[in-house]
Amino acid sequence: MKKLMCLILSAVLMLSVFAGCASQKQDADAIDYSAMTIEELKPLIKTITSGKLTMVTSPDFAPYEFYALSENNKPTLAGFDIALAHYIADFLGLELEIIPMDFDGTITELSTGKADIGMAGYSPDPEREKSMLFSDIYYTGTQCFVTTQANKDQFTAIADTNKAEYQIGAQVGSIQAKLAKANSPDADIVELGKVTDIIAEVLNGKLDGAYVETIVAEAYAKNYPDLYVAMDVPYEAAGNVVGVNKSNAPLQAAVNLAIKAAIDDGSLAQFIADANETAAGNTYEGLLSEDGVVPTEG
Ligand code: ARG
Repeated sequence: MKKLMCLILSAVLMLSVFAGCASQKQDADAIDYSAMTIEELKPLIKTITSGKLTMVTSPDFAPYEFYALSENNKPTLAGFDIALAHYIADFLGLELEIIPMDFDGTITELSTGKADIGMAGYSPDPEREKSMLFSDIYYTGTQCFVTTQANKDQFTAIADTNKAEYQIGAQVGSIQAKLAKANSPDADIVELGKVTDIIAEVLNGKLDGAYVETIVAEAYAKNYPDLYVAMDVPYEAAGNVVGVNKSNAPLQAAVNLAIKAAIDDGSLAQFIADANETAAGNTYEGLLSEDGVVPTEG
C-alpha cells in the first residue's frame, strides 16, 4: 500500500513538473525579445560558458573569415565575420572565444548546442532552420561559378557546366553543394571540406570548375590570377546571417541589435573594406595546409 502511495505521489509530482515546464515554455515563447533593449536582454542571455560568447567559424572563406599572415608569419584569424563577431561580443559585454573548424562542423556544433553562435557566411537556407536561429541579414552577396583562365571559353552559360565528363567542386554542407546538384546534375559533383582546397583543385586542374560565393571567388582570384569567375548563379535565399543556438532567443535578439548598431555606426562597412584589403594583401598566402593552417615559407 505504502509502495502504491509512493508511486502515485511520484507520478503526480512528475506530472506537475512537466506541467510546470510546459507553462514555462509557453511563457518563453510568448516573450517578444525583439522589443527589448540590450540592457534588458543582457541579464536574460545564458551562454554555454558564463561570461563568454563561444563562436564557431570556418576560416577558408576570404574575405569573411580566413588566416592572414602577421609580420612574424603567424597565421591569424581575419575577415569581416571575425571583426563583426568581436563587435557583437563587446556589445553584449562578453569575451569572444573563436573555435575554427570545417564548415559543416560549424552547423553540427551549433545544432548540438556546443556553440552560442556560428559565423561562417551562412546563407539563410530554410532547411537550416532546424539547426539554428537566424539573425537579421548583415551582408548580401551572390553566387558564382569559377574555372581557370585557360578553360574560360568552355563555360559561358550554366548549361555548359552540366556535362558527365566534368568534375565540379562545392563545399560539403553548403548551399553551393545544392546549387551544384541542381545546376550540374549530370556532372560529377566533388564535395570537399574546405573552400581553399576547392580553389586549389580548380587551379591544379583536378576540378573543371566550382560553385563559390562571388565575393570569395573574387578575393581568391586576386591572389591567384589564373582563377576565373565565369558567371553568376541565381540563388533565392540571398544574404548572410549569424547562426544562433536554437534555444537562445534572447541571444538572437541581442545579436540583431548588435548587427543594427554595426551597420548604423559604419563599423560593418569598415570591417568589409578592411577584410577585402587584408585578403588581397601581400602577406596573405590564402591556402591552408592539411592541418588547417597557412603554410609558412621555409
Ligand atoms: N553561404 C554558403 C552557405 O551558407 C557558404 C558558406 C561557407 N562558409 C565558409 N566559411 N566556408 O552554405
